[in-house]
Amino acid sequence: MELKALLQHQFISLGWTTSKIKKTEFNQVKKDLDFFDTPEMWGKPQKLTTQNFEDDIIEQKKLRVVGKAIDDHLKMFLDALGFPKLKYRMTSWITSNSKGEYSPVHNHLNADISGVYYYQTNERDGSIFFVTPTLAMTNSIFTKFSDNIYVKPEEGKLIMFPGWLQHGVSTNTTDSTRVSLAFNIYFEK
Ligand SMILES: [Fe+2]
Repeated sequence: MELKALLQHQFISLGWTTSKIKKTEFNQVKKDLDFFDTPEMWGKPQKLTTQNFEDDIIEQKKLRVVGKAIDDHLKMFLDALGFPKLKYRMTSWITSNSKGEYSPVHNHLNADISGVYYYQTNERDGSIFFVTPTLAMTNSIFTKFSDNIYVKPEEGKLIMFPGWLQHGVSTNTTDSTRVSLAFNIYFEK
């Protein structure tokens, strides 16, 4: 495996798309949700179903299909990294992102694994991007890691990445709203 691909592989597990999850649970997701604005210091507020990132919308709304999908994908993610499946607790929330909204670069503090699942997107309404964790390598002639890695949103796509990895979401410049579910996984230690 080429070095860049190998390092990307270690940091980000990508590309699992299924329309089954969207069809079975999107109506459940859309109804009766309470959204809160994110703090202004985070840029133009987006709407989230959580204020403290400690609750679990998957459990609250009984989103069993996406919950199972995350559990299955976590096993694949850990297999790829050579880790055993560990017991974990999870927090999750839904994000609604309209025209002009974005997420500034941030990380998820002490979460072991974080991720996002796309319920509704036109694929041009803001891409998640990952910032290289190896800044010292950006000047090397052997490696070109200075570019952020952008991942196009697609309905049904599930992305996982280490919680410490710096990331953001580019501005939604379209008239439609992107709806996604984000989660944090904390392993029992
Ligand atoms: Fe995030």
